[in-house]
Amino acid sequence: MVEASVSMADLSMYTHTSGQLDRLCRAVGFDPAERRHLDLLRGLLGTAGEASVFEPPRVASNVADDTSPIEFSVAFDADGECVVRLLGEAVGDPGPRDFLDRVAAEYGLVTDRLDAVADLFLPHEERRGPFTLWYSLIFRPGAAPRLKVYLNPQISGSTMADSLVSEGLRRLNIAEAFDPVIEYALRRGDLDNFAFFALDLDDSPLSRVKVYVSHEAAESEDAERAAELVPGTDPALIREFLALLGGRKGPFDGRPLVSSYSFVEGSGHRPANYSLYLPIRSYVPDDEVARARVQAILAQFNFDGTTLDKAIAAVSDRSLRDGVGLIAHVSLRMGEFGSGITVYLSSEAYQVLPPRKRPALSALPALR
Ligand code: TRP
Repeated sequence: MVEASVSMADLSMYTHTSGQLDRLCRAVGFDPAERRHLDLLRGLLGTAGEASVFEPPRVASNVADDTSPIEFSVAFDADGECVVRLLGEAVGDPGPRDFLDRVAAEYGLVTDRLDAVADLFLPHEERRGPFTLWYSLIFRPGAAPRLKVYLNPQISGSTMADSLVSEGLRRLNIAEAFDPVIEYALRRGDLDNFAFFALDLDDSPLSRVKVYVSHEAAESEDAERAAELVPGTDPALIREFLALLGGRKGPFDGRPLVSSYSFVEGSGHRPANYSLYLPIRSYVPDDEVARARVQAILAQFNFDGTTLDKAIAAVSDRSLRDGVGLIAHVSLRMGEFGSGITVYLSSEAYQVLPPRKRPALSALPALR
């Protein structure tokens, strides 16, 4: 009878998000016996995992619009692989850094590079501002999970952001990477800003440093210019990606476009990969329109659209017309480390944001 007494009012953050994550992993072909993704999610949420999704959260996270501390993504790689990821903030106990210390040994994580920049990006003991430390948990079928951390270049105010990134890159032995990023991606004064500084936590020689720049009110050309820093990118693909998914040429004056550059330590000043993130939820009336556009871009690049539908069904059973933001972002990545499309899916643990009105053709004057 224990089962039957679990009412909707008891739905916890962990129960809600672990169901979504598990279904998502199975949808892309995980072994059903695999448990590590669930263990990691439980550890990341900590005590916050036990809280009811029907009560306001103790800490409002900026990971997602509805203050959920979790966001999922599915990466379609040009090599055929499909990767499930989870962006999360440790908002409960243990605190953000303690989560890492607890899982580091088990997952063979290397924190040297985080330790090298910690005094820059984690100057305070406690969480401050819109965000301090986020994690990405990366799950590939049949492989050990990997972790990545995101740090906030704005943590000591916007006037310090450039120098934090510059010093961070210097400490990671890629000081020469900084000036080209400024030249290609931070061309428009206050409109272009460092948004994230991210580190892979594994021990592989390809462990990456990623630098993210947000572009307020950008045109397609601004993203094309930012991509030019990376050898082998194609501006025509960026134009097409933005036109198809954003439904416009520009300006992207809702939530900002974001560029990211991936660097491998010691590989010189040129980043090996470029990614462009479109917060599609600002540019569509509802998720049915968002899904149709994402299906179109997946088809354009010859990816399997049924995987997208399985992934959507894994996280939500609501009608897609009834809200906006389930599909939060879409990104395009290009370069040496591989190319592909990633679709970000909200957990909507706390709230579904209401749809906007679709443009009405019936309002046009009738022609005869
Ligand atoms: N919710 C935040 C935003 O939209 C942070 C974020 C979550 C984000 N996932 C992202 C930013 C993917 C860029 C790309 O800005």
